[in-house]
Amino acid sequence: MRTHYCGELNQQHIDQHVTVCGWVNRRRDHGGVIFVDLRDKKGLLQVVFDPDDAAMFAQAETLRNEFVLRVDGKLRIRPEGTSNPEMATGEVELLAHKLEILNASETPPFQLDDDDVHDDNRLKYRYIDLRKPEMQYRMQLRARVTHFLRSWLEGHEFLDIETPMLTRATPEGARDYLVPSRTHPGTFFALPQSPQLFKQLLMMSGMDRYYQIVRCFRDEDLRADRQPEFTQLDIETSFMDEAGITGMMEEMMRGLFAEVLSVDVDGPFPRMTWAEAMDRYGSDKPDLRIALELQTISDLLEDVEFKVFSGPARDTEGRVAALRVPGGNSLTRKEIDDYTDYVGRYGARGLAYVKCNDVSQGRDGLQSPILKFLPDDAVEAIIERTGAETGDLIFFGADKASVVNESLGALRLKVGQDRGLVEAGWRFLWVIDFPMFERDADGSRWNALHHPFTAPATDNPDQLDADPGGMLSRAYDMVLNGTELGGGSVRIHSMEMQQRVFKLLGIGEQEAEDKFGFLLTALKYGCPPHGGIAFGLDRLVMLMAAATSIRDVMAFPKTQTASCLLTEAPAAVSERQLRELSIRLRKPQAES
Ligand code: AMO
Ligand code: AMP
Repeated sequence: MRTHYCGELNQQHIDQHVTVCGWVNRRRDHGGVIFVDLRDKKGLLQVVFDPDDAAMFAQAETLRNEFVLRVDGKLRIRPEGTSNPEMATGEVELLAHKLEILNASETPPFQLDDDDVHDDNRLKYRYIDLRKPEMQYRMQLRARVTHFLRSWLEGHEFLDIETPMLTRATPEGARDYLVPSRTHPGTFFALPQSPQLFKQLLMMSGMDRYYQIVRCFRDEDLRADRQPEFTQLDIETSFMDEAGITGMMEEMMRGLFAEVLSVDVDGPFPRMTWAEAMDRYGSDKPDLRIALELQTISDLLEDVEFKVFSGPARDTEGRVAALRVPGGNSLTRKEIDDYTDYVGRYGARGLAYVKCNDVSQGRDGLQSPILKFLPDDAVEAIIERTGAETGDLIFFGADKASVVNESLGALRLKVGQDRGLVEAGWRFLWVIDFPMFERDADGSRWNALHHPFTAPATDNPDQLDADPGGMLSRAYDMVLNGTELGGGSVRIHSMEMQQRVFKLLGIGEQEAEDKFGFLLTALKYGCPPHGGIAFGLDRLVMLMAAATSIRDVMAFPKTQTASCLLTEAPAAVSERQLRELSIRLRKPQAES
């Protein structure tokens, strides 16, 4: 049907007879000549309809946006002074000889160049939204990324193996999507939150190195970087420790960025312990593009009368921290109030601050509602520790460490963005030495920080029991520009250790047997040491495409409330289908 793509024609093709197909991006009538910008996946091409051919010209007059055309013609250079440097094909145009309207289009619900289309409309008419050049670019980028990753992994002995979608619940911590079984009434499959257990079983099966680009399902509260179904690049390997796995994965990432974005990323990636990340950035996925850091000042404030500070400063689970904002002295009352509201969303009960009008004058040069509560030596020590200079502002957080970290960690990012402090570049980072366990919300139980198959930093199960809170795990996260790209670990490969971890997590013997009996049994039959990682492919492509949501790099994403506006899923099903599945829906109140 065609000889060339619209977007690939240039001066080399001058005087050639070509045939192109595409959509009408725009039609302009200019003093007896009609111009159509024709669009296909490679870009736009200006087509010219001359009034000399009256029949064709009349047909061209009927063209509207999004009509689908096939045009034969001769490529020519644009006349002097009419070239368009904004367009890749801006030096040339196609003089039409023959026009075929392959299909008409109703007026589209939105214009492709409208940047202000409501998200719901974009999703409902996704096939139109995807025609946009930037969406075409994103889909093409995504395909190039997966192509590179597949060939890299296959070049390194990784085998692509599929794992079941209809399976049992997998403990990644989110709610499951369930599928009722017809053949076993009253029972359900769960869609996998990840192939975690299957990939470990594949290592026990001697597959040595596995990968899969795989859909995962998690029924959780959605955000810009979370979708109910998303894609992982899932990886597992035998006979390798964390240094080997992380080293190999960063080599893959550097290769990817070089190949797809022509960006040379420095290696090796820095490694930071979880404790240091929390201390300096209040986050386990610090954005290193922002130079602002938190400073612990608890030790300076244990004895001050101001209870807001001394309370958390004395509490072993508390923290008082400062965030110095260079040049922040110019922040207005209103801006500070807005930041106070902002940290409130993360549980902070206030946001104390000190403005540094002139640090050379000691406390006389400072301005703050809390100054009167603090003795001279504490004030001096804070200025010294934070390195505050004239013109700066210092924010303070005082609370349980988790609240201070979350709120000041978020404030650090917000202030960084608001004040233009985000440096350009790709700042990769490994976060390592995570705690093995964390206490759940009411403090009564231990939860696995990663998942229950992650190996602790000891081979001795007794050591685990002795101090669960202090035990580190062999997990690692890859972070890029403040986004958790991927996470993995060296796994437990001894049955005894696995049982002890279950026990610590409050999973009783019977429950462990019911849920993970197959894994415990498999561990008895020659399990190699193994470990792996899973990357959020959507997040990776989102960052590489400079998009702000993973929805923008998924062809058919779901809304914030986990529905598909295009197909209107989820949807009701017939009584008959429900009967077959032995499911009875509760009758509406009025009828019962
Ligand atoms: P984890 O739960 O950390 O680990 O997931 C791995 C990566 O998947 C991405 N991700 C998501 N992306 C989009 N939407 C979501 N709802 C979502 N949830 C997670 C993140 C995350 O880093 N089985 C383990 C991996 C392992 O141990 O090998 C796992 O799934 O980028
Ligand atoms: P108050 O004594 O409650 O008026 O608080 C005095 C100052 O301390 C105000 O600027 C509050 O925003 C701030 N503040 C109160 N609680 C906290 C807290 N937990 N962390 C940081 N600042 C706080």
